[in-house]
Amino acid sequence: MKIKKLYINTIGCQMNVYDSEQIAERLHRIGYVTETRVEEADLVIINTCSIREKAEQKAFSFLGRLAKMKRDKPRLIVGVCGCVAQQEGQKIIERMPHIDFVLGTQAIDRLPAAIERIEKHPCRIVDVDMSQVIQESADISAPPKPHEVSRFVTIMRGCDNFCTYCVVPYVRGREMSRDPEKIISEIKSLVVNGIREITLLGQNVNSYGQKQDLCDFPTLLKQINDIDGLFRLRFTTSHPKDLSDDLIDTFQSVEKLCYHIHLPVQSGSNDVLARMNRRYTREKYLEKVIRLRETCPEIAITSDIIVGFPGETRADFEQTKALIERVEFDSLFAFIYSDRPSAPSGRFKGKVTEKEKKQRLQEVFDLQAHITQKIHSGMKGTVQEVLVEGYSKKQVDENRSRAPEAVQWTGRTTGNKIVNFVQGDSCIDKSVEVGKMVHVRIEKTFPHSLWGSVVTCDPGHSLAKGEESYAA
Ligand code: 5AD
Ligand code: SF4
Repeated sequence: MKIKKLYINTIGCQMNVYDSEQIAERLHRIGYVTETRVEEADLVIINTCSIREKAEQKAFSFLGRLAKMKRDKPRLIVGVCGCVAQQEGQKIIERMPHIDFVLGTQAIDRLPAAIERIEKHPCRIVDVDMSQVIQESADISAPPKPHEVSRFVTIMRGCDNFCTYCVVPYVRGREMSRDPEKIISEIKSLVVNGIREITLLGQNVNSYGQKQDLCDFPTLLKQINDIDGLFRLRFTTSHPKDLSDDLIDTFQSVEKLCYHIHLPVQSGSNDVLARMNRRYTREKYLEKVIRLRETCPEIAITSDIIVGFPGETRADFEQTKALIERVEFDSLFAFIYSDRPSAPSGRFKGKVTEKEKKQRLQEVFDLQAHITQKIHSGMKGTVQEVLVEGYSKKQVDENRSRAPEAVQWTGRTTGNKIVNFVQGDSCIDKSVEVGKMVHVRIEKTFPHSLWGSVVTCDPGHSLAKGEESYAA
């Protein structure tokens, strides 16, 4: 079989990263190999995101650039997948003559057949059918690459919450949880092949299993915790309204679960929260934060904020800032509100000007920078458990070859903070390795990372990554 080259451009969230892996794995089975240079590819796919206007513009600007490539190389196949594909469907084909196929969020299984059809007889395909359930085969997840330590695993798709600003329920469909047995067997196979950390993905993992009467989310976490060879478990995202006491307790009872929760608050104003259809108040949100910290004092809490939602007054915004100051999030993702197709808030009155939205965003960034700096400074001198993920960016960029003590590594704390570190003189066990747990003393702090030296390599976690599986 002739080797055909596949280039995938992934825009958007971790779920899209997972979906791109799924796409690649399905196409490897029909003879494609992944290529990292777009100009070398026979097939170019863009996996798109439409959560905010900016992400959608990014997709169209990449697609625009591909028009010239297609003119120079007429046999090139170009396709659009993901949320923009679902949302725009036929319109993309009409607007852009160089696009061969548009496949929506629930059509991944049908992708290989579509490509094979186009290969045989050039034609244009639009498939945005959401009525068929994704057929998952147990062995679909791609084997890890050498030195890969951490993977995302989607446990549910879609969303039933209908926050008024959000396009997800329209482009990803209704909430559907995957079968726990399939999830567990996928994770087991990743762990056997060297993965040490798993992040479970869903738009609202807290409601996992409830609709289909599968096991609940805390039970799923406990079952995954029992998988031998797995060191760390994370999940994202949690809707505050569904964060149960049972789930909060798992931060104590599930030993591999990392001390981090991403709990998007979106706004600190009860008026705005009601119009967003979030179904909690600032008081309820703060109660959950208190409960989390009582149960797990070390927990890192991160969040999402939208500024400039229609009708957000200065007073509403001040409430958001007051909540940020009260909670002291470890980090924040803040976004300028944008109208999305199908999302009801596009029709709400009281649009905030672009200038004012930018001003509010900057105020959130400044406030959070101050809080993060305070939290990071407080970590100076502490010893943190870190899972080694690889060489630090600096080490790679500068292509350094150095004495083992000076090699610069990178990894994350349980609270998901990036730590760059060296082996250091006091580390007796001179064997920092990708996939091992090490203890790092924090010596310096930066706005987005920490810096330190290894104190010990954890003997309890000395299973060198993939010893068996990478023998080949
Ligand atoms: N405008 C701005 N931000 C949005 N988000 C979702 N929809 C919009 C929108 N229309 C943000 C929310 C969500 C995150 C993933 O993206 O904060 O939590
Ligand atoms: Fe969108 Fe709300 Fe669902 Fe999150 S919970 S995906 S913000 S509708």
